Amino acid sequence: MNWEKQYTKKLCSAEDAVKHIKSSSTVVLAHGVGEPVALINAMVENGKNYKNVEIKHMVSFNEGRYAQEEFKENFRVNPMFASGNVRKALAEGRGDFTPVFFHEVPKYFREGLLNVDVLMCQVTPPDKHGFVSLGTSVDYTLQALRSANLVLAQVNSFFPKTYGESMIHISELDSIIEKNEKIPELAPPKIGDVERSIGEYCASLIDDDCTLQLGIGAIPDAVMLFLDGKKNLGIHSEMISDGTLALYEKGVITNSKKTTNRGKMVVTFLMGTQKLYDFVDDNPIVEVRPVDYVNHPVTIMKQHKMTSVNSAIQVDLQGQVAAESIGLKQFSGVGGQVDFIRGASMADCGKSIIAMPSITVKKDGSKINKIVPFLDKGAAVTTSRNDVDYVVTEFGIAPLKGKSLRERARNLIAIGHPDFQDELMEEFGRRF
Ligand code: COA
Repeated sequence: MNWEKQYTKKLCSAEDAVKHIKSSSTVVLAHGVGEPVALINAMVENGKNYKNVEIKHMVSFNEGRYAQEEFKENFRVNPMFASGNVRKALAEGRGDFTPVFFHEVPKYFREGLLNVDVLMCQVTPPDKHGFVSLGTSVDYTLQALRSANLVLAQVNSFFPKTYGESMIHISELDSIIEKNEKIPELAPPKIGDVERSIGEYCASLIDDDCTLQLGIGAIPDAVMLFLDGKKNLGIHSEMISDGTLALYEKGVITNSKKTTNRGKMVVTFLMGTQKLYDFVDDNPIVEVRPVDYVNHPVTIMKQHKMTSVNSAIQVDLQGQVAAESIGLKQFSGVGGQVDFIRGASMADCGKSIIAMPSITVKKDGSKINKIVPFLDKGAAVTTSRNDVDYVVTEFGIAPLKGKSLRERARNLIAIGHPDFQDELMEEFGRRF
């Protein structure tokens, strides 16, 4: 059967597609902005007809209606990254959380350590050979698609067509719905004085010719503001944001000195503004590849001068980094933080940076210290004290690699907030 006939045969309404989901099965959602919103909405509408369907994903932007109290008999969330749409359900016990390094997720699907019965994703309209693109989300989505028994796809003409390993044939899809809708955009982050200082300190650690991993948010974007004078930077990152585009347009990012994938920006997923989606659409400069390639420390270590920048919730005086929970409360997940820190550490002249404000200010104006004597009770250690390299706040840079516990504590206190220096010095006195 030619692909056009296959396509027509698989085409159905979202309401009919989700009727194939069985009770007690596991539904995996494509990552980030690759989530098929029309299919998710149809699944929730049909929710009362299911019992105990497990929903798995990492970063997720949909409304998360399946995680609400009214559907507690029908759906149970079990993410590997706690986005805002599931945090409440997790805190209230209507779900569970599975910790896993991002680069290992595809392997877990392949080897059955993570179950996937149904994969729901978004794709571009087919090309003349019947291939569609997984667009923004190849990461774990590609392997989940190949490990699932049932693949439901939303064809969306607004979805960007990317290259790398994102193209799949429509024969790999079981049911197809067509719904053209804009994909979610992330508002550009607010960069204040604190973020600018952090950005400037981080930029001072970034050398010409290095390959960069930068996450999302105010701090990575602030770092990029200070990279204008650098030469021949490369990108090998979990994702890129609008700040990366600006540097590419200025000729600062050339990818010409990368050790592997030279001339290309390699990422595993994409999320940002429409400007980013327009840039990556049909652009062979950007390669979107599976996370077990992009985030594997063995891939990352091959880049000469690999430099990673990630953030944290707390760092204790030994250098232990909590980046995913506030005490016992799951706030996000490890994502690619440790993948890149380990890869950068193994790379020739590699560096890794944990960059964060020294305090966080709550709505009521109270200040919470982020450089602390002890992590909050129950906090997960995301990056161990053995892996951590540089910690940066708006007050400076604390190098930790090769430093003793005493030196680490001293270096970290020096970049702590002045309001908490006495408390930290008291602990230093008690300990050393
Ligand atoms: N105690 C209590 N609350 C804290 C806190 C602390 N020590 N540190 C931060 N918070 C709160 C903030 O007040 C803020 O609360 P709000 O949402 O009510 O405003 C919230 O946590 C987020 O803090 P913010 O400083 O805005 O964090 P961020 O958006 O820059 O994210 C991480 C920081 C660490 C949560 C995020 O980078 C992450 O999830 N990292 C792990 C994954 C990773 O590194 N992946 C690789 C890069 S893609």
